[in-house]
Amino acid sequence: MFKMFYPAGMAGSSYDIEYEELYKKGYRGLIYDIDNTLVEHNADCNEAASKLFARLTGTGYKICLLSNNKEPRVRRFYDGLIRSGVDVTNIFYIFDAKKPSRKNYRRAMKLMGTDSKNTIFIGDQLFTDVYGANRTGIRSFLVRPINKREEIQIVLKRHLERMVLHFYKQDRWEKLKESNLVLIGFMGSGKSTVGRALAKKWSFTFVDTDSLIEEIEGTSISKIFETKGEEYFRECETETVKKLVKKYKRHIISVGGGTPLRAENRKLLKNAGFVIYLKASPETIIERLKNDTTRPLLQREDKEAAVRELLEKREPVYQEAAHIRVNTDNKTIDEIVNEIELSV
Ligand code: S3P
Repeated sequence: MFKMFYPAGMAGSSYDIEYEELYKKGYRGLIYDIDNTLVEHNADCNEAASKLFARLTGTGYKICLLSNNKEPRVRRFYDGLIRSGVDVTNIFYIFDAKKPSRKNYRRAMKLMGTDSKNTIFIGDQLFTDVYGANRTGIRSFLVRPINKREEIQIVLKRHLERMVLHFYKQDRWEKLKESNLVLIGFMGSGKSTVGRALAKKWSFTFVDTDSLIEEIEGTSISKIFETKGEEYFRECETETVKKLVKKYKRHIISVGGGTPLRAENRKLLKNAGFVIYLKASPETIIERLKNDTTRPLLQREDKEAAVRELLEKREPVYQEAAHIRVNTDNKTIDEIVNEIELSV
């Protein structure tokens, strides 16, 4: 019923979106709401916003600010970008945009030289920002508003938004319930811990492919590597993944760090459900695994070098294997769980 207001995706903040990944997928234009999306309502451009815009234009994006606010407010933000040294050659703005009217979304694309297929809209309001983007056929991201306290007319709208979002989440939940969530990532990235927490919260069943292999083989992963070799273990992994795809729904599936290396496994995992890459920096992994003796691939004298080497090789594979990536560095389990819930 409310589908025309549903965003294509949600993010905790406009600063958390995986822009570089979207660029690789072919997106070239970004349209931003300003107030409560990039900065607090009516606030000046700040360091975070200018850094983000410098990074995005450096990536190759064109950007257009699209605000229902009046010219002086929008210009003040734009001037802030200029003052902070951002090259604004590829940054445009439109004030008094009358969102959700389609007219200025189209004008924004014209200014950027993009079209509805390679443009993304980012905003914090459903009935103006997201609805307008949907009407224009542009992919939209809804972000959490930056200010907690808002004007009364917005507070009323937020009640209605909450109702629509309730249905939106319910729809997505219905789909997920018939499927699985798959967690991939490097050793020590938190797949099992996060997987167990999610399974408990959602009443899903947690399953870990390494444990399944150990059960079937009747011995530890280290022993399998030692006696039968890595290739044999990789075969076991593929067999296990094949079984999972056939059998399960409503499962959180955590797979070993090397499982996505085989193209066949990547395909099977994407068929099994929604795949999330839990990303952790080499420093985080090294710290977590410094005393670990159970990962045969890391039992080298220079463990740190082993982590860095493997991670560098695998990073693009994980990116390709996953539907989305969630950064886990410096986040608590609850924060990671919340982020996953926003993204699925
Ligand atoms: C491996 C990761 C391990 C385990 C085996 C190989 C890898 O699983 O499957 O030691 O190649 O990255 P975790 O990622 O659960 O540690």
